[in-house]
Amino acid sequence: MSLHYTETLIPSSIITPSIQSLLPDGYTFRTLRRSDYKLGHLDVLADLAHIGDISEEEWTERFDFLAKCEGTYFVLVIVEAGDDENREEKRIVGTGTLLVERKFLFKLGIQGHIEDIGIKADQQGKGLGLKMLKALDSIAKDVGCYKTILDCSAKNEGFYVKCGYEKAGTEMQHYF
Ligand code: ACO
Repeated sequence: MSLHYTETLIPSSIITPSIQSLLPDGYTFRTLRRSDYKLGHLDVLADLAHIGDISEEEWTERFDFLAKCEGTYFVLVIVEAGDDENREEKRIVGTGTLLVERKFLFKLGIQGHIEDIGIKADQQGKGLGLKMLKALDSIAKDVGCYKTILDCSAKNEGFYVKCGYEKAGTEMQHYF
């Protein structure tokens, strides 16, 4: 049996020119790649929450699982270009996920969940987080979501208000 792996989590065409044009020179949006463990994907998430010790093999196993869930996990990264002549990719400085839920409710409505937004600490405050939300919301609309929702801590509420979100409902949790 031949094993088939995909290099990009979702087709690159999901990043339209208008999404790409949101970012300033030196930064690029793209979809998560199978090689992104090496480019610092987890380093960016480390500023968001505890990650634990994850080997490249374990990371890649999770990538392959997500890639098989077609049309569900839209993980974007913002990559910073290097200073060299070819402006080769230097490191990932931002990430964010749109998780697409297909409901029976609301006439088979499609709802987007915004998850795991992280901008590298030394790149925060430059508008990259806002651009990430705009990009994910734009993709959510393109794939047919009627709305996107998210959970965040009180300290980030102001950021999401700036991104066009409003407070709704109450967050609940149940640890196991
Ligand atoms: N509270 C209030 N306003 C904020 C905050 C905040 N915590 N953070 C940014 N803003 C404002 C900025 O001042 C800016 O306002 P302006 O346009 O009037 O100047 C606007 O929001 C956009 O800010 P950005 O520069 O785009 O924000 P940044 O790139 O720093 O990203 C983020 C914000 C994602 C919260 C970043 O600080 C980060 O990665 N923090 C650590 C990880 C984290 O907490 N992620 C969110 C988890 S919740 C989830 O994933 C659903």
